[in-house]
Amino acid sequence: MKVLVIGKGGREHALVWKLAQSPRVDQVFCAPGNAGTALDGANVGIETKDFDGLIRFAKKETIGLTVVGPEDPLAKGIVDAFQKAGLKIFGPSKAAAQIEASKVFAKKLMRDADVPTAEFRVFDHPDPARLYVQTREYPVVVKADGLAAGKGVLVCSTTEDAMAAIERIMVREEFGLAAGRQIIIEKRLDGQELSVQALVAGRVIVPLAAAQDHKRAFDGDTGPNTGGMGAYSPAPLATPELLQEIESQALVPTVHAMKRRRVPFRGVLYAGVMATNQGTRILEYNCRLGDPETQPLFMRLKTDLFELLEAAVEDRLDDFAEGNLRWDDRPAVCVVMASGGYPGAFSRGKVVLGLDEAAKVPDVKVFHAGTKRDSNNLTITDGGRVLGVTALGDTLAAAKRKAYEAAAKIHFQGAFYRKDIGDRALQSGEGDAP
Ligand code: AMP
Ligand code: GLY
Repeated sequence: MKVLVIGKGGREHALVWKLAQSPRVDQVFCAPGNAGTALDGANVGIETKDFDGLIRFAKKETIGLTVVGPEDPLAKGIVDAFQKAGLKIFGPSKAAAQIEASKVFAKKLMRDADVPTAEFRVFDHPDPARLYVQTREYPVVVKADGLAAGKGVLVCSTTEDAMAAIERIMVREEFGLAAGRQIIIEKRLDGQELSVQALVAGRVIVPLAAAQDHKRAFDGDTGPNTGGMGAYSPAPLATPELLQEIESQALVPTVHAMKRRRVPFRGVLYAGVMATNQGTRILEYNCRLGDPETQPLFMRLKTDLFELLEAAVEDRLDDFAEGNLRWDDRPAVCVVMASGGYPGAFSRGKVVLGLDEAAKVPDVKVFHAGTKRDSNNLTITDGGRVLGVTALGDTLAAAKRKAYEAAAKIHFQGAFYRKDIGDRALQSGEGDAP
């Protein structure tokens, strides 16, 4: 069987690497891929938005299953287009991808389905939005409705911040006209964040191991929000009781509500969760795997990923229900190495050295994200997040040590990474349990 992965980030490298391990898979292609997916699979020079080109390729190569990494092509209907062409593809339809692509859709769905989420209001004009924030007695978060490459959420401390956020999203349209036509203003919550992902097909929900991401750019959770600077799995915060609560109070009612609205969800449903003093709240849903959460998750996954995704596409996901997934008990830690300046402006084309040395550290896999090969066959940087250095260890502390030992062997001009991935779990004392 030949498989095609769509995308070019660290998540997609992890998908290619894991799918290539399946005895059922002969070859994994990645479009457009990065320098790492070219090593574990084969890259195809077709952009993710070129649905016709991708469909032509999939037909020519008799691709048996296509797996979509990022949200953009999902929100634009790549799954509908492939299915119309008679091709098997894993991911939600355009209509179902709204759960991520429209925050208004997601919040209204959560309200209707009684899913615990931050109190909110929807606005389609700046004046009532301004009046609303002036009359709140608590800090708020202002969110652009549409996709904004992870940047359309502005966490505010003061009324002035919130007024400025409304200005940026609705008046200056910094995140695009469509994304900012409507906004959500919601209560700002405090607590620890958790990424809970599940495979969904029909009514069947198969939760994956939980992970914790580190969204801020710098140590101690300071600096601007990023796509994610590192992750670990399992997350000690995610007790079986908490996961059970998230499944029964959020995932199940959400999946059922989507089915009732005739937009059944098939794919990965990712709940961004915040554990607050008042209980668990869902901050957002994503319609795809997390990046970098996928990297430590797939280091630990022992179940054949191809069989799992094929089962979801063929409506046989209940074969894997009731805890039928197999995981390595050892924790995994992923440290993201980024280009200087990220998440702001950064330069590309820096030569990456030390990858072979890093790969020699036992139980380490260096997943590529923003990398490519240049004409001299050197690996060069080509994005903000460049690598996800991921390690397994007998304890979280051991996994962390190995990931940092490997990261220290890798160099490129301007490289930076957080030094405290996993520390919160270690400090809580739970992360180092054998
Ligand atoms: P979202 O895309 O909605 O998950 O928002 C991105 C990030 O913004 C989240 O991962 C949180 O760190 C933060 N965030 C979103 N909503 C809230 C909220 N109600 N309170 C505090 N932080 C939030
Ligand atoms: N790491 C956060 C995300 O994938 O949305």
